[in-house]
Amino acid sequence: MRDRGTDTLRAAYAQGWSLGAFSTYTQEITQAISLAAEDIGCPVILQAGASAFSHAGRAQLAAQALLAADLAGVPVGVHLDHSRSLKEIRACLDAGYTSVMVDGSHLPFADNIALTQSVVAAAAPYGAWVEGELGAIPGDEDRSERTGPGELTDPGLAEEFVARTGVDALAVAVGNVHGTAADPVPLDLELLARLASLVPVPLVLHGASGLPAAELEAAVGLGVAKVNVNTELRTAFLGAVELALPGAQPSSDVAAALDAAREAVREVVRTKLRQLTRTAASPRTPS
Ligand code: 13P
Repeated sequence: MRDRGTDTLRAAYAQGWSLGAFSTYTQEITQAISLAAEDIGCPVILQAGASAFSHAGRAQLAAQALLAADLAGVPVGVHLDHSRSLKEIRACLDAGYTSVMVDGSHLPFADNIALTQSVVAAAAPYGAWVEGELGAIPGDEDRSERTGPGELTDPGLAEEFVARTGVDALAVAVGNVHGTAADPVPLDLELLARLASLVPVPLVLHGASGLPAAELEAAVGLGVAKVNVNTELRTAFLGAVELALPGAQPSSDVAAALDAAREAVREVVRTKLRQLTRTAASPRTPS
């Protein structure tokens, strides 16, 4: 079922577990994510776009994600990841997305606030929730390029940003990177704790691929209630296709290769969802 509103996000935040939010590029990845959530019996977020729109086409990718959500036996949110365009955000809200991320992190603080405020106003009539970003999360979202940590989120500015914009969730930079880090840096959990104590909304951790389970669980215990994963899914998908089709032949079976890829992604998503919901028994103390 399509997961509308903030109830699931807020429940995760209050109960000390996190929603897994997984990027999709294809129908098979979309199916793998919703099937894995049904396997585990927990809610999930399908991140359909923005960068994947250039491959699949916005209408196609969105329609597949919304259909998968509607057919699922567990709550499935359909989310627009990293959009800088109000026009694109409005199109996704019209299509039925349940949440959107406005990424104004490249803008000066005041401009980030203004853009984010306009998205919060645009999303309200749809009952969709909004994620903003403050601080720079480096790395390419679609290809793993070795990278290092960016500008960390300032706690005082984060408090002001959330108060002035009214966002429902805030993506923070605490040493996390998209893709793989040149020299893996541990998350700055002290900074995360400080952010969580000042910011009254769930925090979002981008770039969760490759993070050790203990670090992920610690972040969730501190107030992260949405965790974004992409690279590990892409790697599983492409690895399975390569294994199934080592040199394409006229007799190669496309459907069998894509079935294998779907199953490989499903297994990665199941593993992540188990990690993210393991902490559910230890509710966080509201700050
Ligand atoms: P990874 O590719 O590092 O998992 O990051 C995904 C992400 O944060 C998407 O917004």
